[in-house]
Amino acid sequence: MKCVSIAIDGPAGAGKSTLARKTARELGFLYVDTGAIYRTVALKVLRAGADPTEESQVIPLLKGLDISMDYGPDGEQQMFLEGEDVSKAIREHQISGLASKVSAIPAVRDFLLEFQRTQAREHNVVMDGRDIGTVVLPQADVKIFLTAAPESRARRRLLELEGRGQKTDFETVLRDIVQRDEQDRNRPIAPLRQAEDAVLLDTTRLNLEESLAAMLSLIK
Ligand code: C5P
Repeated sequence: MKCVSIAIDGPAGAGKSTLARKTARELGFLYVDTGAIYRTVALKVLRAGADPTEESQVIPLLKGLDISMDYGPDGEQQMFLEGEDVSKAIREHQISGLASKVSAIPAVRDFLLEFQRTQAREHNVVMDGRDIGTVVLPQADVKIFLTAAPESRARRRLLELEGRGQKTDFETVLRDIVQRDEQDRNRPIAPLRQAEDAVLLDTTRLNLEESLAAMLSLIK
């Protein structure tokens, strides 16, 4: 039987993970956070002391790279790097920028493409990222492009980081978000963009409950 897939793309801090997770729970689908997968590769690059912008240093690390995914008892996606649970480590602020750099390398994207597609072949999924509707699952049943003004995305991201006990400030988070979006939008391969058949959902003026209701009504 064909599985159903819902693709959610958008810039950093648009609320993709929170909304995609809640939507998946509501529908009884699997939630796949593809950003977490890129973050795990970034962590590997960081630990290896490689330059994330240098293909010649990153490509050799992909050979035999052992990345896997599982779901905890509460349904949270967990990431494993060489058997170690790195779900927390990949959320460090520093990893965001590194993931954006590493993800611009075509060999990294190729390496992860099949991994992501397999999830959608085997399960009904809500998958979020930057290129799900355009590259990973171009045949997705529903495509949503989630966005919000940079300032509201930075405010939300700041709250999230503070909630995890990470010290930073609004200006830094805003600058990093804008810089990361620019990198993600302007890379030659799989840039962040709205698929032609995706519906745009702007959550700037919506709270979480309103955004979730809008998302579910688009899907239904
Ligand atoms: O979604 P998250 O902020 O965790 O993603 C981290 C980085 O991974 C993004 O800035 C982007 O560069 C990259 N990414 C990507 N394609 C995806 C998901 C994430 O290039 N499908």
